[in-house]
Amino acid sequence: MSGLLTFEWEAEALPGAEEMLLRVAACCVRAEGITLPAYAQVRVTGNAEIREINREYRGVDRATDVLSFPSVNADPGCTLGKRQDRLKREMDETGRCFLGDIVISLERAREQAEEYGHSLNRELAYLTAHALFHLMGYDHMNEKDKERMRDMEEKALRHAGISRVTDEELIEKAREAMAFSYSPYSHFKVGAALLCRDGKIYTGCNIENASYGVSNCAERTALFKAVSEGEREFIAIAITAEKAMAWPCGVCRQALYEFAPDLRVIVGWEDKKEAALLSDLLPHGFGPASGMTEILQERE
Ligand code: THU
Repeated sequence: MSGLLTFEWEAEALPGAEEMLLRVAACCVRAEGITLPAYAQVRVTGNAEIREINREYRGVDRATDVLSFPSVNADPGCTLGKRQDRLKREMDETGRCFLGDIVISLERAREQAEEYGHSLNRELAYLTAHALFHLMGYDHMNEKDKERMRDMEEKALRHAGISRVTDEELIEKAREAMAFSYSPYSHFKVGAALLCRDGKIYTGCNIENASYGVSNCAERTALFKAVSEGEREFIAIAITAEKAMAWPCGVCRQALYEFAPDLRVIVGWEDKKEAALLSDLLPHGFGPASGMTEILQERE
């Protein structure tokens, strides 16, 4: 898998990004059914350089998000067998087939991630998948081809565990759940929507009790629903309250930390939105990686 993409990283470092993009690339190649060892060269740069490349090779004098330069031109719709035959001819001294070059503007990716309300990782994953499918002969010149390409990108990203759900969509789900809040004592309605790696969303609301301490927060309602259905991997949680920005309480941070220290936590209220990583909301958190598991195993 590590040979699938070769990086020239000319932009600021993004820890974990290359590993994530390798996972995406593996899923793209698998989704297409390519069995030959293949690789692509990825240059991650800024707006100035991508503009230069765009002007030089395509005669378009402006910055863009991603450019792809296939080594083999295959017509969209050409069979996998034919494509593989053409690719075989590209086999180089490394014993692998060179698919082509990809250039990504990290600067533009960041701007787009912000605009679409999803993570920079999600944007980079999408751009890489899009470019890779171009290298594998896909295009979007007409509606049919566009749809074909889109389906493949979605399939690969889903398999790579990259979600298409935007912060806004997740907040909307949380808002819907807030309507079910049972809060006759505090009159403080809260809703949460937890996004799992497999794309499923579990929602929850706060559920109070005449014996106050028994009350449960919206976040834990969503988490416990998900875990009790077999979910273990989580990507993001959105929380909304009726009367204020409701960042998760300490108990909920701890409960979530058990499963996803790097969970993206999104808080929405009226038209405001803020987001943070759970590990920033619970620094030095105590979790399975803190050694408890080893201690318990030793005792057994
Ligand atoms: N609550 C939540 O559901 N989530 C939070 O993050 C903060 C507080 C609920 C608990 C209680 O039902 C009500 O809000 C007032 O504290």
